Amino acid sequence: MSGRLEGKRAIVTGASRGIGAAIARAYAKEGATVIISSRKQEGLDAVAAKINAEYPNSIVPMACHIGHRDQIKAFVQQVEAEHGRPHILVNNAATNPYFGPMFGIEESAWDKTFDVNVKGYFEMTRQVAQRWLDNDEAGSVVNIASVVGLRGAPFQGIYAMTKAAIISMTQTLSLELGQAKIRVNAVAPGLVDTHFASTIVNNPDMAKMFTDKSALKRHAQPEEITGITVFLGSEEASYVTGQTIAVDGGYTTT
Ligand SMILES: NC(=O)c1ccc[n+]([C@@H]2O[C@H](COP(=O)([O-])OP(=O)(O)OC[C@H]3O[C@@H](n4cnc5c(N)ncnc54)[C@H](OP(=O)(O)O)[C@@H]3O)[C@@H](O)[C@H]2O)c1
Repeated sequence: MSGRLEGKRAIVTGASRGIGAAIARAYAKEGATVIISSRKQEGLDAVAAKINAEYPNSIVPMACHIGHRDQIKAFVQQVEAEHGRPHILVNNAATNPYFGPMFGIEESAWDKTFDVNVKGYFEMTRQVAQRWLDNDEAGSVVNIASVVGLRGAPFQGIYAMTKAAIISMTQTLSLELGQAKIRVNAVAPGLVDTHFASTIVNNPDMAKMFTDKSALKRHAQPEEITGITVFLGSEEASYVTGQTIAVDGGYTTT
């Protein structure tokens, strides 16, 4: 542990597996107390047990469905009441229920994608950052977006629109909250080996379509997305806001 986040409390959403679980572990390693959330308590309990065995008392598992505004409000209230206000929010939980041409999507899948990926990020940020504003406290928001929010993305078009919305939200909120010492940044991962991307990662032809376009010619492991999220959450990034930083093996260089 090098203590870059010593004394900090962070919320990481979607941390029962994949990139979120890796971020939670990286934050714990740097000395933070991390409240991890996702829909299912059992997955969170398992991740908490594992990380707490390595970094004692670093992880608090607390379920919250970010597609439900009332749950977000209750969750942030509970975090504040039981553990104190967080200093860092990592919005990471997202969904992608539809894979196919844009015109083929059902309205229910459209609504779910926007409810979770856009309204969920927005409401969680509003609940956390409004408390910073009310108490004149600094804070850092890290939004996990995606390279598909920066480029055309056949078969992932609706999901990609939500990620573009997050990049826009990041830019505007950074301007609206900057004077209050609240920083808002986004991370845009490329293809990462998780449950979420397993349809692509486990299909050699589809995976190749991505890796062929990237400079490093491979996909990433979840741990490779953590360094930038630690940096953006920490004081080392005190003059960085409104940015979207691609962690994509060079996918967006062309
Ligand atoms: N993997 C990639 O290639 C890739 C690339 C670019 C960006 N990303 C982004 O990275 C982030 C993490 O994805 P991942 O690949 O790590 O996915 P993952 O392994 O499938 O993990 C997704 C996490 O989100 C939680 N979750 C899903 N729906 C939720 C909801 N409505 N409310 C609260 N939690 C919810 C899941 O837990 P529960 O099932 O318990 O809710 C799980 O903890 C997402 O924002 C994704 O868009 C991923």
